[in-house]
Amino acid sequence: MRPKIAAGNWKMNGTQSALDELDALAAMLPGGDTRVVICPPAPLLIPAVARAKGIAIGAQDCHAAEKGAHTGDISAAMVADSGAAYVILGHSERRADHGESDADVSAKMQAAWAAGLTAILCLGESEADREAGRTLEVIGAQLAGSLPDDAGAGNTVVAYEPIWAIGTGKVPTLEQIVEVHDFLRAELTARFGADRGNAIALLYGGSVKAANAATIFEAENVDGALVGGASLKASDFAPIVVALA
Ligand code: G3P
Repeated sequence: MRPKIAAGNWKMNGTQSALDELDALAAMLPGGDTRVVICPPAPLLIPAVARAKGIAIGAQDCHAAEKGAHTGDISAAMVADSGAAYVILGHSERRADHGESDADVSAKMQAAWAAGLTAILCLGESEADREAGRTLEVIGAQLAGSLPDDAGAGNTVVAYEPIWAIGTGKVPTLEQIVEVHDFLRAELTARFGADRGNAIALLYGGSVKAANAATIFEAENVDGALVGGASLKASDFAPIVVALA
C-alpha cells in the first residue's frame, strides 16, 4: 500500500500572515491517512512547524553540502532542525533558474536522506520535448540521473511535473498522465525490484485544481499531487485533499 500524499508548494509566496492558511486548512481536512504536506518559503519553516496541526512541513530546496561558505543557501540539516520532514528537490524552476543538473539534484537527495528528510524529487519535460515525442526519454534520463540507489518509500516521493503545465492552466490528458506514471512505475520496479519500486509514491503536479483533481487521481499510479497556485489558499487546497482521501 502506497501512501496518498497531497503536497503544496508555496514557491516564493507568503509572509507570516500566510500561516493563517495552515489553521484554516487543518480545520478543513477530511481525516483518514492521506498525508498533507505544505512547503512554505524557508523563513516560514520554523513557525509553520509550530503552527501546523496534522500537516507535515517541507522545504523547497536544500544545499548538497553539510555546511560552509554557501551564502544564501540552507543545508538539509538546517531543514531537518526546523522540524520539517520533507524537501522538494529538482523542481523545474530550480533546474531552470539555478542551472541545477541531474547530478546536482542527486547530491541533494543524498544530503536530504542523510538528514532524515523525505525528498520529493521533481521530473518533467518541456513543451518542446513533448512535441518532439521525447517525453519518456527525458523523464527516464532525469530519473536515472537524479535518483540515487538508496531510494525507497521511506525517503523518496517522485513528482511528475510537465513544465508546460506548471502555472499555465494547461493539464495533460489523463492518458498522458497515465503513460508517464506507468512508465515511472516500470522504471522504479525494474531498477529496485517489485517491492521497493511499487512502494514509492508518485505525485502529479502542474495546474492541479479542485475541478480536475478527482479525474487525475483516477490513474492507478497517481498517488497524489504536488500543487502550486492552488495550495496557497486553504479553501482551494482542501478540496484537492478531499478528492484524494
Ligand atoms: O511544484 C508545484 C508546481 O510546480 C505546480 O504549480 O501552480 O501549476 O499548481 P501549479
